[in-house]
Amino acid sequence: MQIKASAPSSVLLVCLGNICRSPTAEEIFRQQAAIAGLDIKVDSAGTGDWHIGHAPDVRSQRHAKSHCYNISKLVARQVDDEDFRKFDLILAMDGQNLADLQALKNSIKDTSDKPLAKLALFTEEDPTYGGDDVPDPYKGNGDDFEDVIERIESSAQAWIESWKAM
Ligand code: 4NP
Repeated sequence: MQIKASAPSSVLLVCLGNICRSPTAEEIFRQQAAIAGLDIKVDSAGTGDWHIGHAPDVRSQRHAKSHCYNISKLVARQVDDEDFRKFDLILAMDGQNLADLQALKNSIKDTSDKPLAKLALFTEEDPTYGGDDVPDPYKGNGDDFEDVIERIESSAQAWIESWKAM
């Protein structure tokens, strides 16, 4: 399969806490990229610092497991300046995450030749959920955690498809 030149070599998925949406997205994105034969480094982080060092929320782990995604070994961390140098593309789970990431990017003094990571909303390429937030399930119920998985599967697939030749 021919791969478009625009496929990034590294993608960082970002939400608020890095314990619900973005670790789920990290595993789903990694699996979908591997299935598509794309060699992409995938990681996740949060804009907030409350959960640094924590495993994903047990509800996220449970719902992910029921869809055959194992996120139990992932460890939360906070996004930082270096991520904008290390990654080609940073995808935000919602509009607030995107605004926070944009503010962080704007504050970085870029001294290297390599451009800072491109920023986008995670749903941007998705024909079904395009432009929507992946809603924060933290204070929600089981249906909200299921909804997160469905939206992430859909939007991850849309990015992967956008990088494959027609
Ligand atoms: P996430 O969900 O951003 O999808 O990881 C949240 C997790 C924790 C909090 C908020 C959202 N919190 O306020 O602690």
